[in-house]
Amino acid sequence: MPEPRSPEPMSIVASHHGIAPPHDPNATVTITLDGQSVEARAGEFLIETAERAGTYIPRFCYHPRMKPVGMCRMCLVDITGPRGPSLQPACYLAVSEGLEVDTKSDRVRKAQDGVLEFLLINHPLDCPVCDKGGECPLQDQVMAYGPGESRFVEEKRHWAKPIPISELVMLDRERCIQCGRCVRFALEVAGEAQIDFLGRGDTVEVNIFEDQPFSSYFSGNTVQICPVGALTASPYRFTARPWDLDQVESTCTTCALGCRVAVQSSANRLTRLVGVDSDSVNQSWLCDKGRFGYEAVNSEERLMEPLVRENTDSDLSPASWTEALDTAANNLLDVREQHGSEAIGVIGGARLSNEDAYAWARLAKSVLGTDSVDAQLGDGLPAELMLALPRATIDEACRARCVVTLAGDLREELPVLFLRLRGAVEDGSTRVIELTQTGSSLTPYATSIAYRPGESPAVARALSSGAKAPNGVSEDLWGEALSAVADSAGGGKAASAVEGKAASAAEGEAPGEGEGIVVVLGRTSLAEDPRSVAEAAGVLADAWPKARFLPALRRGNILGALEMGLAPGVLPGRVSLEAGADWFSSAWGSVPSSRGRDTSGILEAAADGSLKALILLGADPLGDFPDRKLAHEALERVPFILSVDTFLSPSSSRSNVVLPAVMHHERSGTTTNVEGRITRVAQKLVAPGQCWPDWMIAAELAMAIGTDLGIGSAVDLWDEIERVAPSHAGITRAVLDSVAGREGIVAPLGRSQVKLSRRGPVPIDPMATPGIDAVERQGVFTGASLAEPPGWEDPANGHVSNGSPKTASKPPLLSWPQEIAPASVPAPDSYSLRLVSGRRLYDHGLLLSTIEPLSKLAGAPSLRANQHDLDRLGAASGTSVRVRSSRGSVVMQAESDPNVPRGVVEIGFNLVDADGVGARSLIDVGETVVDVRLETV
Ligand code: SF4
Ligand code: SF4
Ligand code: FES
Repeated sequence: MPEPRSPEPMSIVASHHGIAPPHDPNATVTITLDGQSVEARAGEFLIETAERAGTYIPRFCYHPRMKPVGMCRMCLVDITGPRGPSLQPACYLAVSEGLEVDTKSDRVRKAQDGVLEFLLINHPLDCPVCDKGGECPLQDQVMAYGPGESRFVEEKRHWAKPIPISELVMLDRERCIQCGRCVRFALEVAGEAQIDFLGRGDTVEVNIFEDQPFSSYFSGNTVQICPVGALTASPYRFTARPWDLDQVESTCTTCALGCRVAVQSSANRLTRLVGVDSDSVNQSWLCDKGRFGYEAVNSEERLMEPLVRENTDSDLSPASWTEALDTAANNLLDVREQHGSEAIGVIGGARLSNEDAYAWARLAKSVLGTDSVDAQLGDGLPAELMLALPRATIDEACRARCVVTLAGDLREELPVLFLRLRGAVEDGSTRVIELTQTGSSLTPYATSIAYRPGESPAVARALSSGAKAPNGVSEDLWGEALSAVADSAGGGKAASAVEGKAASAAEGEAPGEGEGIVVVLGRTSLAEDPRSVAEAAGVLADAWPKARFLPALRRGNILGALEMGLAPGVLPGRVSLEAGADWFSSAWGSVPSSRGRDTSGILEAAADGSLKALILLGADPLGDFPDRKLAHEALERVPFILSVDTFLSPSSSRSNVVLPAVMHHERSGTTTNVEGRITRVAQKLVAPGQCWPDWMIAAELAMAIGTDLGIGSAVDLWDEIERVAPSHAGITRAVLDSVAGREGIVAPLGRSQVKLSRRGPVPIDPMATPGIDAVERQGVFTGASLAEPPGWEDPANGHVSNGSPKTASKPPLLSWPQEIAPASVPAPDSYSLRLVSGRRLYDHGLLLSTIEPLSKLAGAPSLRANQHDLDRLGAASGTSVRVRSSRGSVVMQAESDPNVPRGVVEIGFNLVDADGVGARSLIDVGETVVDVRLETV
């Protein structure tokens, strides 16, 4: 019988999920485990103590991130307590002083034999064709602890198999061992009881409800934690066997949360993404868009070679890299000579790694000389604001005395952040006050204060000053919100979490200073001027100087792009253009002398003819910018467009030169999440065709223009960033490779503890459901072991890129206060309704359209409104309505929604009808709010 190996190091997997019986977190007890004296944290579960001490107790239903249920009895151990010896489930027993435990006694072995023999009574003999075969805890534990043969010869139970329970998940009920992990995940973690046990006795089955589809955004997690092949992922089924897979630890960059993942491939084709348990970020969970979105990388529709349009009447045709780069360089040089640097604009960059973004910022700001650079496509918030506000981590938000959200729907935009905050509310670690225009997925867990577009500064002012309830908000609700922000004395648990300080009351600080409050700050609506939210954030920052802010911007590496300088008015390292001018001129040669335009300004300049060259870095204004009309006018008029892209988007199709770039999982480097946490991204695949990394394209384009950036690799770039960008000082490659670096390093250094020890030699295997079975599988039953990201290759011959400041002193980081220009909001007229437009997770965008199962999940656009407003129109839910704004009109179905306040309507921003028309046809970015009128059709 194979001996289980000792468990993996616990550096990333949390050994405690905060749901064991209450206890003093610092108290310890001593127990005897298999004859050895072991120190344990008082109140933790025995299975966790044993695991940390190197004793693996087999288990099925236990999961370190969910409440124990003691259902499978696989973890029975022999306990000697006050009532004599007994068999008890180690996952359900909290340790106490003097506990004596035997995990290997004859009685334990017999119990393990019995449990496994019973589980196999009905388990089908599917192993050769089961996706889980080769990485199956049931297989592994039967081999390690099972009886060897069964006494049961009866016919097994049969069900129709497999049945699709969603576009993404297949269910094979025969294989289910009724551990309840999927059921508990759905209920406890996702808060959506869409899968459960149905039936009674020996007909009990796991299944979904007849009238409720399994529509969770988090369904892939049930597949990952199912210890058998009962739940399998349709995109992965039969694509690979575990022993064929090769994997590497990396970061998901589909949104800006930065969940840690294991990226698995077979024969240079991505096959699966699996969540890795990063305690600070995703705690093993992924959303389905992040988990299954990898198929875009395998798409046949990828751009594979450079394309050049010879003249305005010709089509894009394949060209060599030299030809394409020369064409781009000559056009950019011509524009700079004839019209000046300010006639060049750069949009995009959130798709890039930090190194790529830095290289492009340097090319744009020093070589081309333009500050009209913006990684946000009109869907973000001013860069200075986001970089200057004191930053909170996700953990700090989850343990804050009070979280105030002023953002879009987090489940749609940063799904795993929604899971973390929901979990924190559910276990009583924090309270949420939601400032919202139309309600969100957090509404059931929050004190929800509704306001209309343009009113967020007034609501923020009232909340932070304790003023009376704003119009339309009930006194009770408002009182609840005020007491949550003022309640410092009762919020010790939460307040102590922010920067590890004691409760504000204990320190004698006024609750009004915002100690212990975290504001989650994002773009609430794409139909509202971002200055409204920025002004509201400024009001809160001024009123609560000790509050912290967690950005909720959603694009992949948007925070990294802003920190690397891909925004007007800023330079790499959270430095303003003004403050950093000397330092960066010294490092780069020159920087722009005046502030440039943001994306809206760039497109307006293109539309009015003053912008002559546009560079699109993975950006598609035609498909993505909030104002469809402006984007069309801009791209029609601008004489030269260079696109660096991965697919031929509507915008790159109109370009004069298109350069093919690598995608995520095809490059190595770093990325930065919403917290400012820098993690490494690993290259798993060789990019197809002639795709280049974005930094290399920037370096070669600079060379074609006549400037050698001196960059030879992503490593050069990281070293230069560490040297030059003030917020990144000290975050060396060694720091990123340290034990702490595996969780990511939050910039700037100082707020996070950094241990400089190297990682342990055996990384955690994410193919194991956390804590369940990595051990046997990794050593005994093959399975792919998880490689760390490949080491940084040393720069050749000690090469140092030429971006080093030679004189000048390091500039200060941006800090609050910053100047925020307020938006003036017109009064609503009595015939109009104010438009709110938020994003949905699944959209009709280019990337998802290349992924078969995900492309089916985006819904049709519809309009949500309060029944009161529908009544005024004589419409009911389901009625088709025409929505008109000053910009255009669209027709869609109306839906009644009580969360939408009177006078407001909501339309999903990124959903379009068959003609490609949606909310973007209504939005005018020149207006502070968008008023619409409805009529039935
Ligand atoms: Fe457990 Fe899987 Fe059955 Fe769910 S489907 S109860 S996770 S065995
Ligand atoms: Fe990826 Fe964001 Fe989903 Fe995490 S929440 S898996 S980072 S898309
Ligand atoms: Fe303990 Fe299932 S009863 S793991």
